[in-house]
Amino acid sequence: MKPDTLAPGIHRVYARIGDRDLFEGIWPIPHGVLLNSYVVQGTEKTAFIDLVKDWEGAVGAVEQQMAALGLSFKDIDYLVLNHMEPDHTGSLAELCKQNPNIEILCTKKAVPLVEAFYGITEKVRSVASKETVDLGGKTLVFEETPNIHWPETMMTYVPEDGVLFSCDAFGSFGQYEHCFDDELTTAEWELLIPETERYYANIVSSFSQFVLRGIQKLAGLDIRMVAPSHGIVWRKDPARIIELYKTLAEDMNGPAEAEVTFVWSSMYGNTAALVPIIKKTLEDEGLTVRMHEVPKEHASFVLASAWRTSGLVIGMPTYEYRMFPPMYHILDILERSHVNNRKVMRFGSFGWSGGAQKQFDPFVESLKWDCVGVIEYQGAPTEDDKARAIGTAKELARSVKDWSRKKTVE
Ligand code: FEO
Repeated sequence: MKPDTLAPGIHRVYARIGDRDLFEGIWPIPHGVLLNSYVVQGTEKTAFIDLVKDWEGAVGAVEQQMAALGLSFKDIDYLVLNHMEPDHTGSLAELCKQNPNIEILCTKKAVPLVEAFYGITEKVRSVASKETVDLGGKTLVFEETPNIHWPETMMTYVPEDGVLFSCDAFGSFGQYEHCFDDELTTAEWELLIPETERYYANIVSSFSQFVLRGIQKLAGLDIRMVAPSHGIVWRKDPARIIELYKTLAEDMNGPAEAEVTFVWSSMYGNTAALVPIIKKTLEDEGLTVRMHEVPKEHASFVLASAWRTSGLVIGMPTYEYRMFPPMYHILDILERSHVNNRKVMRFGSFGWSGGAQKQFDPFVESLKWDCVGVIEYQGAPTEDDKARAIGTAKELARSVKDWSRKKTVE
């Protein structure tokens, strides 16, 4: 692996992480993920922006690329920690052992986290928005962007080259052979957009109000390159990823796309019996329907779909007087991420007694969902149940089309 040069003296040194582990211990990464760090060399000082964690040889990969630049961690004067999550700080203690003279720059809120995670209290300097550090011909300008992704998060900007080091913000899941947006192949683009959307939904979505505030704060900057710590570097069209993130943040409260996420579970086929009928009705009404059967599919993919669509169909049986447990997990994930204001219908079978709906209703209220109808039935659905399902699906389709965003931004 070779370092990538963003501008004279600014390089990406990075690691490719495969699909073996779950990201954050919860989210699958079937296409892997990149951990990007950056070196900024001035005439007087050198800064290193965001570390990697010791994950699948990441530290060694970064050291090897630094060696190719004629550098080692001993040559670093400033370590900028935009964000304290261990994917960007995991090798901090080891680095400080190698280079005890390094000065850590982070926000005030990050200082206690540096101690809590790594026991480091010396040579840690807190910086605030608009504060600058002169490297000699290159300046680091800091901007606090709390909650993108943790409360202590900031971004770092180099005005001489217009490069914004945004850490988690504007990032993506997935590995890409090419570093820059203007180099990507068609296949890489086909991976990048959905993996950006899934990354956003899984990692950032809960903090969407902060994303919108953060984007507003950046409005005055001449951003010529967006260099996140996951994914690619946006050099040709940095506005595109900022605009996509703005759209994704706005999806939280809707309206989102004129599409439907259809998530369903079935124990013995009686809930499944209505799945093709409802799906066909929605498609006949001209809607794209994103199908997810749980628990066969991970919540990561359901959340990514639900985040982007204005409509939601929940098919779920009652299980021991309550919601089917894998679907409870899905509802919990949707609630944590604030998938608010969706047009929804629910259907499902029960055996000796209902109960799922009673547990479902508080989610509807909490998420401010507009539930257009519920079809519950004992055992197998009757012809009347099927007719009710078709009628409710038509009503859902009408609501989704009336309410959704008119223009797709991608
Ligand atoms: Fe990539 Fe919130 O860490």
